[in-house]
Amino acid sequence: MARNRISPACIVYVFVLFFLLATPWAHSKPSFRTYDSQVQKVLEKMTLEEKIGQMIQAEITGLKEFSDISTYYLGSVLSGGNGDPEEGNSLKAWTDLYDRVQKQAMQTRLKIPVLYGVDAVHGHNNVLGAVIFPHNIGLGCTGNPELVEEVARITAREVRATGIQWTFAPCVAVPRDERWGRTYEGFSENPELVSLLGAAAVRGFQGSDLRDPLSVLACAKHFVGDGGTQAGTGLNGRWDQGDTRLDEATLRRIHLLPYKAAIEAGVGSIMASYSGWNGVKCTANKYLLTTVLKNELGFEGFVISDYNAIAQIDPDFKTAVGIAVNAGIDMAMEPTEYRRFYEALKALVSEGVVPIERVNDAVSRILRVKFAMGLMDPNRPQTADRSLHRLVGSKEHRQVARQAVRESLVLLKNERQTLPLSKTMGRIHLAGKSADDIGNQCGGWTIDWQGGSGPITTGGTTLLGAIRNAVSKETQVTYTADGSGVAGADVAVVVVGETPYAEMMGDAEDLTLSEQDLAVIKKVKQAGVPTVVVLFSGRPLIINDGLELADAFIAAWLPGTEGQGIADVLFGDYKPIGKLSFSWPRSMDQIPINYGDKEYSPLFPFGFGLSF
Ligand code: GLC
Repeated sequence: MARNRISPACIVYVFVLFFLLATPWAHSKPSFRTYDSQVQKVLEKMTLEEKIGQMIQAEITGLKEFSDISTYYLGSVLSGGNGDPEEGNSLKAWTDLYDRVQKQAMQTRLKIPVLYGVDAVHGHNNVLGAVIFPHNIGLGCTGNPELVEEVARITAREVRATGIQWTFAPCVAVPRDERWGRTYEGFSENPELVSLLGAAAVRGFQGSDLRDPLSVLACAKHFVGDGGTQAGTGLNGRWDQGDTRLDEATLRRIHLLPYKAAIEAGVGSIMASYSGWNGVKCTANKYLLTTVLKNELGFEGFVISDYNAIAQIDPDFKTAVGIAVNAGIDMAMEPTEYRRFYEALKALVSEGVVPIERVNDAVSRILRVKFAMGLMDPNRPQTADRSLHRLVGSKEHRQVARQAVRESLVLLKNERQTLPLSKTMGRIHLAGKSADDIGNQCGGWTIDWQGGSGPITTGGTTLLGAIRNAVSKETQVTYTADGSGVAGADVAVVVVGETPYAEMMGDAEDLTLSEQDLAVIKKVKQAGVPTVVVLFSGRPLIINDGLELADAFIAAWLPGTEGQGIADVLFGDYKPIGKLSFSWPRSMDQIPINYGDKEYSPLFPFGFGLSF
C-alpha cells in the first residue's frame, strides 16, 4: 500500500508558517497593561471583600443563594458541562439566566459585571440547536489555521447570542499518549501544529478587539503539560490529572510552546492544569505560574484554577488556598466552595500568609481583562443582545462546520477505486451503531458534559441522513445497525467507533476497535459487498482487522452535527485532504508513539492522508 510519508519539507513548512505567524508584526497583540491606570482607580476604591470576590468563580448550579453573586461580589460564574439553566435548555433560558446574573452584579456597590464562562470547545456545545463543530483532533487534521479561526469566530458569535462572554477554550494540550481520555481535545501530538492552530483559535474567539460585542474571552488550557502525564499517575491510577515527568527542556519544547503562541495571539486567560510536573501540582507551582508564565513569557491576563483543583493541593482547604494564590492563581474556579474560599482568603490576608500585594495583582489582572473587553464601560448594556439569536444554528454557520468536517477527514485506505461513490448507484446500505447517531457523531462535551448516544441535539444531519440527501431519487438507501440485509447492495458504508466520553471517563487501557463493530464489518464483507468503513473516534484506535477487511477506510474523528460534510467526500464532491495530526499505532504496545521518536514505525505516520 503506497504511503504518503510526511516529507521533512512539510515539517519545515509548519515550523516556518508557525514562526511567521508568531512574529509580532503578523498581528497586533492587545496589551492589557494599557488599562492599568483605569484599573488602579477602581482598585483604590475596593474593599478587601470586594477584591476577594473578584477572584472567585462559582458554578451557577452550585450557588447556595442566587444572591450570593452580589453578597460575595463574585467576579465570575460558570456553567460547567452540566450547568444548564433550571428553566431548561433553550436559547431563551440561557439568555434569561445570563441577564439575571448581570442584574445581580449591578446590585453591588461598584457594579463590576460578572464574567460568565462556559466550555464552548466545539461550538456553543451546551446549547440545544447550536452548531457542533469537529472536536480539535479533527481540526488538527485540517492543518488550516484560517478555518480554525473562522470556526472559533462563529462559536464566539453563538456564545454571545446567549450573553455569555468567556469560553474555556482553546485546549492547547499536546496529547502524547492516546490512552488519555482528553486526546480529542488536543489538535495534535506535534507542538508546532498545536501552536499554529491554538493561536488561530484565540484570534477567532477574541477577534481583533476584545471590546467587539461578538468577541469572547479565550482561555488557553490546561497549563502546563496536561497531555504528557505518565501512565498510572492519574485518577484511578490512569492518565487524567496525572503527573508529567519530564526534564524542563522537554517540557518547554513540547508542552510550553503552544502557550507562547497563545500569549502572542493575545489570550486573556489561561487555566492551570489539574496535572502535576515532576510531583508538584501545576495549581501550586509558583515557578510555572509566576516565574515562567507571567514573568518570563509576559502573560498579562489572569490565571484561573480548574474545577475544584485547589482542594487537591492540600487536605486542609485554607492551606491549599494560600498555596494556590501565592503560586499565581488569580481566579479560583470554586463551583460550590466559593464561600469557604472567600472566608479562607480573607483570613490568610489578615494573617499575612497571602500578601495584599498578591491580591491586588490578581484583581488588577482580572480588571485589566474586563476593561479590555469593554465590560467596565458604564454605558455598555449589561443585558444580552437577543438580536443575535437568529445566528445560532444558522445555515451560514452550518456551511462552515460542513467545510470543517470535509477537511478533517483522513482517507487511510481506498482500494479498487471504491471511493468516490456514485450518487446514482442502485442501493447503498448503511450499517454500524453510529450511522444514524448524532450523539456518537459529536462525542463528549455535547449538551451534557459526557455527551451521549442518540438524538441528543437538534439540527444537523447524521451520516445516514446526509447520504439520503446526497443520492439521486433512483438510489435506494437502506440501514441496519448490525449489517443484516446488506446482500445485494452495490456498496456498504459501515459507521463504527467510540461512544461519547469526556475527561477521565475516556481514559482507556485498550483502544482496540470493539468486537461488536468488527462483527458488523465482517458480516458486510462476507456478503461480498464493497465495504467503506467510517470511524467516529476521539483518537486513533487499533483497527488492523477492520482495516484489512475494508475496501476503503476514513478516520472521521468526532465531526459534530454536520454529517453532510462526510457525504461530500464520500461522493467525491470534495477530495479528502485531511492529514493525520497524530501518529496511528499498530498495536497497544506501541503507545505512546509520536513523530520524532527514535523507534518510529506506526501503522500510519503523522502527516499521512490519501486522496483521490
Ligand atoms: C473541567 C475541565 C476543564 C473545564 C472546567 C470547567 O473539569 O478540566 O477543561 O474547562 O472543568 O468545566
